[in-house]
Amino acid sequence: MRYVRQHRLAFAMVCTTLVLIAFGAMVTSTGSGMAFADWPRADGEWMPERALSTLDGFLEHFHRIIGAAVGLMMLILVVWAGRAASDQPWLRRLLIGGLALVVTQGIFGGIGVRLELPVFTSATHGVLAQVTLATFTVILFALSPRCAQNPLVEAGRLRSARKWVWIGLVALILQTAFGAIARHSVVPNNHALWSHVVNAFVVFLLLIVVSGVTSGKLGSSVPGVNRASRLLMGLLILQVALGFVALMVRRDKHPENIQYLWRASLISAHVLTGALLTMTTAHLLALVRLGAAPAPASGSTR
Ligand code: HEM
Repeated sequence: MRYVRQHRLAFAMVCTTLVLIAFGAMVTSTGSGMAFADWPRADGEWMPERALSTLDGFLEHFHRIIGAAVGLMMLILVVWAGRAASDQPWLRRLLIGGLALVVTQGIFGGIGVRLELPVFTSATHGVLAQVTLATFTVILFALSPRCAQNPLVEAGRLRSARKWVWIGLVALILQTAFGAIARHSVVPNNHALWSHVVNAFVVFLLLIVVSGVTSGKLGSSVPGVNRASRLLMGLLILQVALGFVALMVRRDKHPENIQYLWRASLISAHVLTGALLTMTTAHLLALVRLGAAPAPASGSTR
């Protein structure tokens, strides 16, 4: 079997990325983004004393360290899996895209600190985090043994499922963008916040369609689709519930927010569940793009 060990590394990378997003969410929710005003060093050091003695220093610095670990894993994958994929140029491009995203992410994070966290860099960092996770999820699938099996599905069904999954993914990214602008604005931005809340209902309906179309059209012929669409529905319900909680407990950005860890944790749970939703939708995309092939017109699997 191809890519067995690379697949394990990709799995570790996706898990570490989820931890990274959880740390990033806590950094913003506790108002710890400026715990260190310098970058790439912190207080002029690679491991400052405050990273181990204060909570804001710990969250901010370990967010950087975990980010560097994820970048390193992606770099190893590009070399290791890329070399083994000499006959799959699309996979090489995907790996290089993943590396480009994680490097850009690090640069946006660092420049953001140096500019004292303007909304532009922070919101871009928040949105790119989800795009990076989605790309890593597709890489994980592309390296899995499951990707090599390609059940044939009637072309029309596959086209329709692909279209709806793409629409769902774009809607989720747009939803994240509104949430990120609201969350990272120094001056309260009610416009972005309420766009996020209203758009949530659009996303809600769209993801119900995505789940229904993928399981209805491909559930019986493409392994993994039913489980992913059920998970999508469960996460969606949890996310909307957490969204209302976040709306009730949120405060504007302030370092004093660190005193209310329960509040920061609830808001971060909303951000993390958003990441899991993006991840599940990206997995569905991988299943319909890489995990199934259109059957020739005469050999329909109906
Ligand atoms: C339906 C799918 C939803 C998704 C995928 C989603 C996703 C997100 C994400 C990813 C963020 C953080 C963005 C960032 O900082 O990078 C966020 C923030 C936020 N979301 Fe949602 N959300 C959803 C629904 C809702 C709903 C229904 C509500 C409220 C009724 C809500 C309220 C909020 C609030 C208040 C924030 C900002 C929290 C803060 O100020 O720290 N969300 N959302």
